This record gives sequence, structure tokens and C-alpha cells, in this order.
Amino acid sequence: MSGDLHAERVVLQRGARSGLPVIVAVHSTALGQALGGCRLAQYPDWRYGLADALRLAAAMSDKCALAGLAHGGGKTVVALPPGRVLDPAGRRDLLHDVGDVIASFGGTYATGPDVGTGPDDMVTIAERTPWVFCRPVPAGGSGDSSEYTAVGVLAALRAVAAHRFGSADLAGRSFAVLGLGRVGGSVARMLAEAGATLLAADVDAGRRALAEGYGATWVSPHDCLTADVDILVPAALGGLLTARSVPELRCAAIAGPANNQLDSPATADLLHERGILWAPDIVVSAGGVIHAVAVELHHETSAQATARVRGIGGTLTAVLDTARATGSTPAAAARHHADRLIGPTG
Ligand code: PHE
Repeated sequence: MSGDLHAERVVLQRGARSGLPVIVAVHSTALGQALGGCRLAQYPDWRYGLADALRLAAAMSDKCALAGLAHGGGKTVVALPPGRVLDPAGRRDLLHDVGDVIASFGGTYATGPDVGTGPDDMVTIAERTPWVFCRPVPAGGSGDSSEYTAVGVLAALRAVAAHRFGSADLAGRSFAVLGLGRVGGSVARMLAEAGATLLAADVDAGRRALAEGYGATWVSPHDCLTADVDILVPAALGGLLTARSVPELRCAAIAGPANNQLDSPATADLLHERGILWAPDIVVSAGGVIHAVAVELHHETSAQATARVRGIGGTLTAVLDTARATGSTPAAAARHHADRLIGPTG
């Protein structure tokens, strides 16, 4: 472990109203204002939330750079104690605390939705700071980004299919979608519409009906992870690809929107050795932020922004082609592309 702090500025503050630990990490503003969503999740203690914020903020720098955005990376994490549930008033207080911490960054960082937050929460944060993306359209924002993240995932899946199987057609291909939240649920729907064969899983058994509505076969999260399918689509929390899980995998390729899928960079080598093509999550998951920036900052129509999101397919193909040409992993190729774009940061 190195002692270097891989972030420009980190604020960890007990919320004045909520008493909860609010963490905002800005990894880099080398390319411009840092962007990254607001995650509201339970952690064993705030130190885990801090570690997650630092990792997620660094990934956002790479994500924005590879997406061609003039933005850096950051992240907000609220580390809820285990079992803590917020009532509406408590949630509002907490989001105002979050807004105050973001405001203290003076515009060098702007937030958006992430795991545990949605467009309505962005309205509440915006009562304390203007640096908020993805409020609902009637409230002046570009709306829920998860639909556009899913559009980007579909473009990535076509690129992976073309690279691995020689055809971008998804009809008849088999997929295991792990996680049916806002993004994963939309990905499953779009795959069903494209004529794919689907397995699906979620820790929330209440999502089974949604999965079966798309014609998916409902399985346990472990059976989904280890399914014998063409492409595994991680769409839940990160860290699922590890030295323990990789030997169990039976898919030919992996591409999905979950952030930070590898528990450590070395896991990319394990996947490569097993002949499993891994599409870097920092490329695959950029659709939400691409759409929000295009609409809210560059005043493009949603249709124009969505066309940009589909460009993820070309970006991913370039990364996979570099990996193939140099005999490196897609992770190393993406790292190389991102370093070239961001430049030396310290
Ligand atoms: N959750 C989004 C991501 O990880 C964050 C985001 C979306 C930030 C839209 C800003 C605008 O990319």
C-alpha cells in the first residue's frame, strides 16, 4: 500500500442536521470541474465509506477523460450505519448537509445521482448548492441518468459481441444480468427487446417479477455470476471480480455498468489468463454522465446527447483493439488511454 493521497481534496464532515458522516472526495480537476454521483449506502463504519469515495472518485476521473469530457472526477458518499433507515424528514436533512459540503467546493465539484439516490434527491441537494445534475426535467434538469447509462451499456455490449464473437447482433446471445436496480433493470429490458436470452438476479427478491416480465430466468446472485453465458453484465455494487470468483466464472466476456468491478487491478490479469474478455467499467458506465453534461451544460437535445452516449461503442472498440494489438489487458489499455488524456497528475 502506498502512502500517497490520490485525491486533490477530501472533506469528511459530520452533517450539522443529520449527524451522519458526509464525504466528498475530489480526485482530479486537471481536465475541468470534477463530476461524480452521490452514493447513499450502508457501511460497517465511515472509514469504509471514505475508502470507497476515494476509489470511486478516481474512477470518475478516468470515466470522464475516456468519455471525452472536459471534466475531472469526484464522488460523494454518505456512510449510513448498518441497519439505519431514513424517514423523509431525516433524508431531507441529510441531503441539505450534503448540499452544504458540496457548496464548500465552490463549483470545482458537481454531483448527480448514484446508488441510493435519484432525481428527486437532486432537487433537495439543489436547495443548498447549484452544483447538481439530473434533477427531473420539469425541475430544470436532464432527468434520470440511469436510462442513458443503460443505452451506453447496450452500445458497449454490441462492441463486445462484435469483438469477441464477430457480430454486434445481440439476438440469440445469452446474458446474465446481475443487479436489477434502475440501470440493470433498463439493461435487461433493452436486451429482451434485442432478442437476447436472459438470466437475471438481484439481492432483492422483490425484483423477480420485473425480471420475469422481460422473459428472464430468475436465479440466485451466485448462479448469475457463475452462469455459462456469452456475456456477464455486472449491474450491482462493485468488487465482485476477485481472485476467488474469477476461477468460478463460465462466461466468455464481461461488460456492465457497476463501478469498480475489480477488487484490485491484478484481477484483470486473472481474467485475461482465463480468456475472459473484460470491458473496463470506466468506459461502459459513462452514458449517464455523458448525457447529463451534453444536455445541461452544452444545451444539446436529449436525442443529440443520446447519440453521443452511443459513441461508447466506438470508444470501447478502440480500447479493445489496443489491448489486442499490444497483447495487454483491456484494463491496461484503458489505463494507457486515460493517462494520455489526463497527463501526469502528481
Ligand atoms: N452515477 C453517475 C456515474 O457514476 C454519476 C453522475 C451522473 C454524475 C450524471 C453526474 C451526472 O457516472
